[in-house]
Amino acid sequence: MNIKAVNLTKIYKKRDSKDVRVLSGVNLNIKSGETIAFTGPSGAGKSTLIHILGLMDRPSSGKVLIDAIDCFKSNDAYLCKMRKDNIGFIFQFHYLLSDFTVLENILLPVWNIKETKIKDAEKILKKVGLSHRAAHFPNELSGGEQQRAALARALINNPKIIFADEPTGNLDRATGKEIEKLLFATVSETKATLILVTHNDKLALKADRIIKMRDGKVTTIKN
Ligand SMILES: Nc1ncnc2c1ncn2[C@@H]1O[C@H](COP(=O)(O)OP(=O)(O)OP(=O)(O)O)[C@@H](O)[C@H]1O
Ligand SMILES: [Mg+2]
Repeated sequence: MNIKAVNLTKIYKKRDSKDVRVLSGVNLNIKSGETIAFTGPSGAGKSTLIHILGLMDRPSSGKVLIDAIDCFKSNDAYLCKMRKDNIGFIFQFHYLLSDFTVLENILLPVWNIKETKIKDAEKILKKVGLSHRAAHFPNELSGGEQQRAALARALINNPKIIFADEPTGNLDRATGKEIEKLLFATVSETKATLILVTHNDKLALKADRIIKMRDGKVTTIKN
């Protein structure tokens, strides 16, 4: 799926202090199947931007078009369905739910859990090397295992667009490399669009394009 951002802004209104302008007119054109790495200093607005592109947050103004559909014209129920059907998201902090097992966490984005979906979840767990941890709870996992579980959860609905916000940020080099490999192997297999945020230059270089951000704006697009 392709994604177009038109003049996106995000401003947090503050009652007792100055409004915080986090995105100031971002325009992007991301082609179907492309891999994109967003880089830039802390606070540049990278997470905010990909949350909006991933339809998890609304912009203050501007548009996001996914395969030419103007998404934010629609209500939250539509956005939710659009996300479920098309989007997988790996967060900067993994956000696994602590009261659910690994297998249950992976099945969270599935609305109608049938036997086949459980089989799919088990297949994905195998792919990320976590079969032996299916019945464990997140706090029983290492950081790398938690991130792999979060990756498995992002893949369960076979997304056409995968967002990954610093997927290797909190991991040691070897574990980070594993996650990296899994992500790129998945998108080359499924032809999904991959949009990641990273502070890791080597990881960024693996993407088709690097998009640098600063102070809520896109500053450079490198091919
Ligand atoms: N709810 C909020 N209210 C006010 N300001 C916010 C809010 N959420 C985020 N911000 C501000 O928006 C700016 C951009 O945040 P964002 O998380 O998008 O940055 P980032 O580029 O992802 O940084 P990092 O590399 O540290 O993850 C920051 O200055 C942050 O303080
Ligand atoms: Mg961030």
